[in-house]
Formats: sequence, structure tokens, C-alpha cells
Amino acid sequence: MIKRHPTLYALSHHHHHALVRALEIRRAAERPEPERTAALRRAACALIEFWKNAGSVHFRDEEEVLLPACARHVNIAEEPAFVRMLSEHATIRARLQELEQALADDRPVDGLTIELGRMLHDHVRLEEEQVFPRAEALLGEAGLQAIAPHLTQLHPRTCDTKPGEHRES
Ligand SMILES: [Fe+2]
Ligand SMILES: [Fe+2]
Repeated sequence: MIKRHPTLYALSHHHHHALVRALEIRRAAERPEPERTAALRRAACALIEFWKNAGSVHFRDEEEVLLPACARHVNIAEEPAFVRMLSEHATIRARLQELEQALADDRPVDGLTIELGRMLHDHVRLEEEQVFPRAEALLGEAGLQAIAPHLTQLHPRTCDTKPGEHRES
């Protein structure tokens, strides 16, 4: 379990849900054909839904609230974890756009869905292991409390895992 400042519970909670999507994709990919293609397609649709309902707001919270707060203390360009996070946001957005278009055109989505599942999993790990600890160190107690009201609470606190905790998949 990763210790997390309560302000970042909301973001870590979204990460848990992203990992559930990633795990669903991995399980779908392990199924034998012909179910595999249908399972991956269902997982791809669920991923797009998740993106629209939660993921896109989560990315914006990180870019518009968390990162600007950190930028008051450091030059973001000199922080490898932050730079990688932003770069991955752009790539994940691009792949999600491609996936949505492929689904709409009824084209195969197997490879793209598997790739996105891996990217999401790795992205969550980067943020939980490097970005959030760095942000916590930079912002300190007062800085973290100051950004708390600006972060979106997407999931009620009654969900299946404790905030700030995510299972490895
Ligand atoms: Fe992110
Ligand atoms: Fe995140």
C-alpha cells in the first residue's frame, strides 16, 4: 500500500478505477478466440466510457491543478517524472481518439486496446511512485490543503477500496 496525503486520495481513487479497466483488458486478451475479440471490444467500449466519465476530468485535474501548484516551486521542464507524465497524457489521449474512431468504424481494436491497457497501467504506476511523492514533497502540508478544494471528486468514498490504495495488477 502506498501512503498518500488525503488531498491526493481523490486522484489515487481514480487510479484504482483505471487499473480495474487495465486488468479487464489484460484478462480479455488472455481469452481464447473467438471470445477474445468480442471481450476486447467490450473492454474497449468500457474504457472509452470510463475516459468520458472520469479519465478526462482526472487528466485535467492533474494538468490544471496539481502541476501548476508544483510549478510554483520548480521548473517542470527539469522534472523528468512531470515531463513524462505530460507526454503520456498526450499519447494516451491520441490513442483513445484512435480507439474511439476504430470502434465507430467497426474496425478491429484488439492491438490498440491491449496497448492502451498497458499504457494506463504504467502511467498510474509512474504517478503513484514518482509524480505524487514529488508533488507531496514540493507542496508540503499547506500547499496540499490549498489545492484540495479544486480537485474533482468523481467517485463516492463508499467504493470498494480505501482511497490511496491500489492493487497491483
Ligand atoms: Fe495522469
Ligand atoms: Fe493520474
